Amino acid sequence: MSRDIRILGDPILRKTARPMSGAWTPRLRRLVTEMLESLRLCGGVGIAAPQVGESLRLVILASHPTARYPDAPNLTPRVLFNPEITGHSPEGEMGWEGCLSVPGQRGRVRRACSVRVLSVNPENGAPEHHVFDGFLARILQHEVDHLDGVLFPDRVSEPEDLVSEAEYQAILRQARP
Ligand code: NI
Repeated sequence: MSRDIRILGDPILRKTARPMSGAWTPRLRRLVTEMLESLRLCGGVGIAAPQVGESLRLVILASHPTARYPDAPNLTPRVLFNPEITGHSPEGEMGWEGCLSVPGQRGRVRRACSVRVLSVNPENGAPEHHVFDGFLARILQHEVDHLDGVLFPDRVSEPEDLVSEAEYQAILRQARP
């Protein structure tokens, strides 16, 4: 079963999500299964629990090449409990983002090229350290923003960097003849 995706305007997307209190429970396993199914149906590369109506600090990174992100790396879905960015590269890079909760829009957003992340291992509750680079760093930063009530259009600094999906597809075609 999948869950309905909450859309821009739903107040849950603007709340600060609650910390996860421990490791897996049957209810959390069911939630993650439903989030993965929602991602699969939408062809998304990442999702945060508030997007399916659960105000919890839980994200899934599920990068794979898609029509929208043809250069995305293939990654077995990673479930992160309480992800926290503990450091990032000084360099940033601009890149296109979209969001299941902001349908029909794309935006160019500056993100750190590399991030260090602390999270809780869902199997045993132990702290876990990760380093994510490039596109994965971008997804991670986008998903952690969701936990703090921030959506990608909030990060777009120039008006011309927010475009429709159709315009984005035209830009992609120009870039990849
Ligand atoms: Ni999103």
